[in-house]
Amino acid sequence: MNVLDHISPSDPIVILTGAGISKESGLATFRDPDGIWAKHKIEDVATPEAFARDPDAVLGFYSVRRAQMKDAGVEPNDAHRALGELEGFWPGGVLLVTQNIDDLHARGGSKNLIHMHGELAKTRCNDCGDLIDGLGDLDKNMTCANCQAVGTLRPHVVWFGEMPLQMDAILRALSDCGLFISIGTSGNVYPAAGFVQEARAHGASTIELNLEESLGASSFDEGRYGPATEVVTGFVAELKARAVQ
Ligand code: APR
Repeated sequence: MNVLDHISPSDPIVILTGAGISKESGLATFRDPDGIWAKHKIEDVATPEAFARDPDAVLGFYSVRRAQMKDAGVEPNDAHRALGELEGFWPGGVLLVTQNIDDLHARGGSKNLIHMHGELAKTRCNDCGDLIDGLGDLDKNMTCANCQAVGTLRPHVVWFGEMPLQMDAILRALSDCGLFISIGTSGNVYPAAGFVQEARAHGASTIELNLEESLGASSFDEGRYGPATEVVTGFVAELKARAVQ
């Protein structure tokens, strides 16, 4: 099925992105053979228990990711930029929900953006919840400027076992959208992996744009497979033509 035959320009669009969209910007995915989880154990670097047990290991892991954000070679690619443009021309409105903690969507022009797994470029105090901007390295001896606690500063990212952010707003948008687009995500991690079912249950058309079929591929009305810079830009160009019909 071609989802474009089933939507109208007044339909709101919800987009979910994952690590695959940033791959061509030079950032590794998680579960591909050369991915981050092939080199690190989740339970060592991405859980509240790991932070309590070995803060140096956890903060060091995120310092490397933060340094990549400052690397001049890591820039938004054509897929990020196409989604920024889509928000500008689609009459029904676009909400972009990303699992990515990088800042490439914002730099690619997206404004209506939810970082459901948090943001590398923010630091949070585990005690008082104070949020500050910045990509500097954190260490376990730092003091929170707001509550003066020591050793509580952590990257503002959602670890395994923690609740994703802004779920109410996301679920509301999924129940109202006419088109749900999933891009560059393997479908391993919930609740994001269940968004396609949620959108479908409320009558949306659904499409997956990914390098290969994800775990949930059979749940989508349509799938297009290839690198994001090709399949996303191609699909957004078709949406642009549809927007003026
Ligand atoms: N273009 C499009 N898709 C790609 C590309 C590319 N150039 N390269 C890889 N992919 C696809 C892979 O085929 C895979 O299906 O992107 C997907 C990446 O999957 P994961 O590595 O599992 O990343 P993601 O789905 O974002 O992970 C979800 O798990 O541990 C975490 O919290 C982390 O937010 C992350 C969550």
